[in-house]
Amino acid sequence: MLKRLYSLSILLLSSALAANALHFYLDANEKRCFIEELPTDTVVEGHYRALEWKEQSQSYVIDDNLGIHVDVEEVESGHTVVKTKGPSDGKFTFTSHDAGDHSICLSTNYTSWFSSTHIRLYLDITVGTTRADSEHDRTHVSEVAAKVRDLNQKLEDIRREQQYQREREADYRDLSETTNSRAVWYSLAQIVVLVITCAWQLRHLKNFFEDRKSR
Ligand SMILES: *[C@@H]1O[C@H](CO)[C@@H](O)[C@H](O)[C@H]1NC(C)=O
Repeated sequence: MLKRLYSLSILLLSSALAANALHFYLDANEKRCFIEELPTDTVVEGHYRALEWKEQSQSYVIDDNLGIHVDVEEVESGHTVVKTKGPSDGKFTFTSHDAGDHSICLSTNYTSWFSSTHIRLYLDITVGTTRADSEHDRTHVSEVAAKVRDLNQKLEDIRREQQYQREREADYRDLSETTNSRAVWYSLAQIVVLVITCAWQLRHLKNFFEDRKSR
């Protein structure tokens, strides 16, 4: 049962993590933003990888001179959550403090306005509620714990009931035993009384006949 619950929670957990993998194209001086609506205390992890178009090879390749700026802002308050400069392949993580729209913006660190560099950017954003998940797990655990406690309580009740039953049986046995022994004593007393009465009557009768004979 525990194992089943565990896999269930894994299932819930994985469905709570919404992953968005995408790729897009960016010009050197361009900035691309994504709006992500987030609840409070949500951990967002983003992985990105930028490739630069090279005319010589006619393909997108890794360029160590290429850097990526990541800016995350709370749209409503304008509060900056993240502002980093990273390499062409990197990641960023942040936790939302307020619920609402967050803009996640990526741009290159190429400043030339005349540059016509084309960038291909792979972005993988994972929106997970790590804190909520741990709470979720905790409630799961406490649910299981509560069930175990309930079961233990029931077991204890049953054990007590059995003990009570056993004691009652013992009492009953004792009672019937004393009743039996009392009955035996009673019968013995009756026999004794009977014997005495018989003896007394016999003596009486004997005296009676002896009196008659002697007259
Ligand atoms: C852009 O960032 C990369 C990686 O951090 C760095 O090597 C490069 O010098 C930077 N270029 C400019 C123009 O700032």
